[in-house]
Amino acid sequence: MRILVTGGAGYVGSASIEALVEAGHEVIALDNMATADGASDLDGAELVVGSYTDRESMTPLLRDRSVDAVLHCGARSLVGESVQDPALYFRENVAGGIALLEAMHDAGTNRLVISSTAAVYGIPDETPIPEDAPLRPINAYGETKRSLEAAAAWFSRAYGLRLVSVRYFNVAGASGRNGERHSPETHLIPNVLAAADGGAPLTLFGTDYETPDGTPIRDYVHVVDLADAHRLALDATAPGDSRTESALFMNLGSGVGYSVRQVLHGAEAVIGRKVPHGYGERRAGDPPVLIASIERARSLLGWEPTRSTLEEMIGSAWAERQRRESRKT
Ligand SMILES: NC(=O)c1ccc[n+]([C@@H]2O[C@H](COP(=O)([O-])OP(=O)(O)OC[C@H]3O[C@@H](n4cnc5c(N)ncnc54)[C@H](O)[C@@H]3O)[C@@H](O)[C@H]2O)c1
Repeated sequence: MRILVTGGAGYVGSASIEALVEAGHEVIALDNMATADGASDLDGAELVVGSYTDRESMTPLLRDRSVDAVLHCGARSLVGESVQDPALYFRENVAGGIALLEAMHDAGTNRLVISSTAAVYGIPDETPIPEDAPLRPINAYGETKRSLEAAAAWFSRAYGLRLVSVRYFNVAGASGRNGERHSPETHLIPNVLAAADGGAPLTLFGTDYETPDGTPIRDYVHVVDLADAHRLALDATAPGDSRTESALFMNLGSGVGYSVRQVLHGAEAVIGRKVPHGYGERRAGDPPVLIASIERARSLLGWEPTRSTLEEMIGSAWAERQRRESRKT
């Protein structure tokens, strides 16, 4: 099928495009380069520079190119920035997301997979977190994703949009050609690797949590496992598929948690050097444990994360970092 991937030049989008092209799909990558550095390898896909928020240009693009389905990875996704500048986040992620939904409706493209986030849950009452846990985001980023999910669910009910919204936990690792490059980088694994490679020492925020080693535990999923889940979720939006008769919400994680110290020591073991680090105060709003229940993705998509071990995630991210650094010299 022909699939348009918004945010296609970003981390998750570019790795997903690799998997979709490999599976034989025709792919259009749409990106306005707001946070992309232009270095993603999108071989096999066509890159269109533009914004998904622009209904006027999105409608003809979807219609004239007979796009069957959209994988919506494009977004603003920095938690701190979202709290400082909620206007940007609501304008882009919510108003812009609704413009995309309307363009899809106008063009008759009715298959959609949305990149959502565990941030929609806020601080959960239970972990592993099931999809029917209360949605109580504690930052503007999570609130914008919850809002877009809600709008899309109503489009699904009223206009027959076939929707799967996938809530990622922490995405990690690299594909064969693309890896994680956010600026600023707020994610743990790339910051551990940067510290190991002569960058700023890592700060462990809080070592007195109610966890076995005192540091917070998070669920990490390999970006290539995530790309597989996207492919399966897009298949589930096919006309007549009973799984998407109504909107579907689904966690994507590994179902396993690693503490900050486990990630640090795992990285030291994988790359064979010490990672310089120091200690800081707990950060507001950081719960001790966040782990996904992934039973719904398993049972409905037949998905199983097979690469989401610390060794594979850190090993692939390190290898990609080395490739990227060697290209610079
Ligand atoms: N990386 C994670 O751990 C993680 C976790 C949970 C959810 N997510 C979600 O996954 C998605 C992808 O995240 P990522 O880590 O690849 O981020 P990223 O910043 O690497 O990629 C996002 C891409 O979207 C593009 N973009 C932004 N606004 C756009 C617009 N208006 N029109 C077109 N393109 C636009 C950016 O230029 C960038 O290339 C986001 O929706 C994010 O909220 C990511």
